[in-house]
Amino acid sequence: MADNQVSDANANGLSVEDKKRRRFLTGLTAGFGAIGGAAAVTPFVLSMSPSERAKNAGAPVQYDFGKIQSGQMVKVEWRGKPVVLLKRSAEMMEGLDKIKSNLADPDSLDSAQPGYAQNNARSDESNRELLVMEGVCTHLGCSPVEKLAIGPDPQMGDDSQGGFFCPCHGSKFDLAGRVYKNVPATTNMPVPPFKFEGTVITIGEDDGRVS
Ligand code: FES
Repeated sequence: MADNQVSDANANGLSVEDKKRRRFLTGLTAGFGAIGGAAAVTPFVLSMSPSERAKNAGAPVQYDFGKIQSGQMVKVEWRGKPVVLLKRSAEMMEGLDKIKSNLADPDSLDSAQPGYAQNNARSDESNRELLVMEGVCTHLGCSPVEKLAIGPDPQMGDDSQGGFFCPCHGSKFDLAGRVYKNVPATTNMPVPPFKFEGTVITIGEDDGRVS
């Protein structure tokens, strides 16, 4: 053993004690490296999961709408408001044209939406059936109730093509959030900025796109 130690020391120009010290220092450096790596990762993970405060301040939120079935709706929260994600069926989409004459602003000329959602369906052409809309009544801010069934409805009327009914003062909206005539609200429910990446929607951010 003693011979080996001597021969090692001779081969590297280092004694056994020198080698032990070097191993210790190398381990210490590796340890700091690992801690540094963890510290670099943590802010990224946090940025993927905005705090409640950040969300209320307007941080974008994401949702995988691929799991929404045709004809189904979910609500996600953005800026403390409910945002409706409704994947409209073919029948629902057809109904949008049938009631145009009953609407106060059918072409959304006086309503709030990004340019890419100013169309009959008030949606992005790449996912036309998906309605993305703030579920907030434009009269005094109540949350309208969804009426997704097509057909006579006590609140929506006999020729209802589905829509939303505000229980506060009776405003009615179609399945694109367009307001009916002769109700307290006068503009369509707002569409927030949004963008897609595959089946993931980001609400609150659109990179400034206009189409
Ligand atoms: S708040 Fe909806 S009708 Fe008044």
